[in-house]
Amino acid sequence: MTIGIGLLGLGTVGAGVAAILAQPEGRHPLVADLALRRVAVRDLSRPRPVDLAPELLCTDPQAVVDDPAVDIVVEVMGGLEPARSLILRAIAAGKPVVTANKAVIARYGQEIAAAATARGVYVLIEAAVGGGIPIIEPLKQSLGGNRIQRVSGIINGTTNYILSRMADEGAAYEAVLADAQRLGYAEADPAADVQGGDAADKIAILAGLAYGGPVAREAIPTEGIDRLQARDVAYANQLGYVVKLLAVAERLGEGAGGEALPLDVRVHPTLLPRQHPLAGVHGVNNAILVEGDPVGQVMFYGPGAGAGPTASAVVADILNIAGIRRVGGPEAGLDPLLAASSWRQCRLVDGASTRHRNYVRLRTCDEAGVIGRIGTCFGQAGVSIQSIVQFESSEAGAEIVVITHEVRESAFQEALEAIRALHEVEAIAACLRTL
Ligand code: NAP
Ligand code: HSE
Repeated sequence: MTIGIGLLGLGTVGAGVAAILAQPEGRHPLVADLALRRVAVRDLSRPRPVDLAPELLCTDPQAVVDDPAVDIVVEVMGGLEPARSLILRAIAAGKPVVTANKAVIARYGQEIAAAATARGVYVLIEAAVGGGIPIIEPLKQSLGGNRIQRVSGIINGTTNYILSRMADEGAAYEAVLADAQRLGYAEADPAADVQGGDAADKIAILAGLAYGGPVAREAIPTEGIDRLQARDVAYANQLGYVVKLLAVAERLGEGAGGEALPLDVRVHPTLLPRQHPLAGVHGVNNAILVEGDPVGQVMFYGPGAGAGPTASAVVADILNIAGIRRVGGPEAGLDPLLAASSWRQCRLVDGASTRHRNYVRLRTCDEAGVIGRIGTCFGQAGVSIQSIVQFESSEAGAEIVVITHEVRESAFQEALEAIRALHEVEAIAACLRTL
């Protein structure tokens, strides 16, 4: 029996999905049972990379959701509204949903999961994180028996593509960003990529699955690559590091006795030692390192954005639902493990109490004793220094780069305060986290 698919959106991802459905040969046999019934777009006159019968297209996404010939709703339009309302409308109608929309899931996942659980329909989100990399199902299922300590990774393809090309070719930021947009990697508003918001959406989703409870998306400390300077990438390189936009979710305690589980969740550019497993992840590729007990370290790697990889994940979710329908199995919510009754409380810890290694670049006047005074400021705050190097600066003065050992954030900030007050220090020009 044919299963009717309604597509909300025919942009990069939607067109990738339509292309797979149009050519089922050589794929899973169930693909041949999927039929595209209706597609919503904004602009009917826009040229499309896939050849679809014009009568399939419309500009009314509600009509797609409501169409009785549509059995599964695939939301690939992006944005918060009307995407959220359309997902809820599909659920209310008892139609399973597949979505790639991390922005909606990171903010309204709880509401959507509760509605889906109550109505007994699936909402599957494999394409929302990591593009073509299967990471949602492994976290929900295959690694379910583990106590997850840490999930960290490169989960934004656009910024990794930009950083890789800047490092490898010395390419200019704006030109590479334009290429990422042309290739379909970037969000409709690329500020979400370069300012770190897209990675924050994704790490919120991964943390929710890894730790069994939703995290407050808006409270995640987020820093993108938009203020990263080329000279810090170059200095990091000379010191044996590469700079990557890293998203991290780490358990910092047990949340015993019914207390909320304390988590450190954050997104920021990070210096990685060149031999670190994530340092070799280049271009649009993503990689997610999951550390759990008893499994140890597991790394998921692959293309993190673009039409083909993302459509691959969307179609996998559609096939999952189609397969369950085929065998007449029960439908369920977004994640049975996260059904409203079994959510646990998670809380984000105060950033001042977390511990990190740091890279600091200082612009100073070039005179005797400066390095000593800077060292004293760090020492008095209890911040241990791993290395301190003076770089040649083309401008007047000196550039001093300090890499600390792992220290408490509050102590690091105290040291920076004292350094800022030194008359020899013109500016604290950059601060980056270091692994
Ligand atoms: P896109 O290229 O901008 O496509 C969006 C599509 O939705 C377009 O076809 C657009 O119509 C349609 N649309 C938007 N608002 C609409 C409305 N109100 N009514 C009817 N149609 C509407 O975006 P995309 O890159 O495919 O991304 C789609 C979703 O997938 C987003 O949530 C994104 O975060 C997620 N995602 C993207 C990637 C990727 O690599 N691109 C990877 C993973 C997840 P028009 O074509 O007529 O403008
Ligand atoms: N803009 C996103 C990225 C798309 O570059 O990673 C994949 O989610």
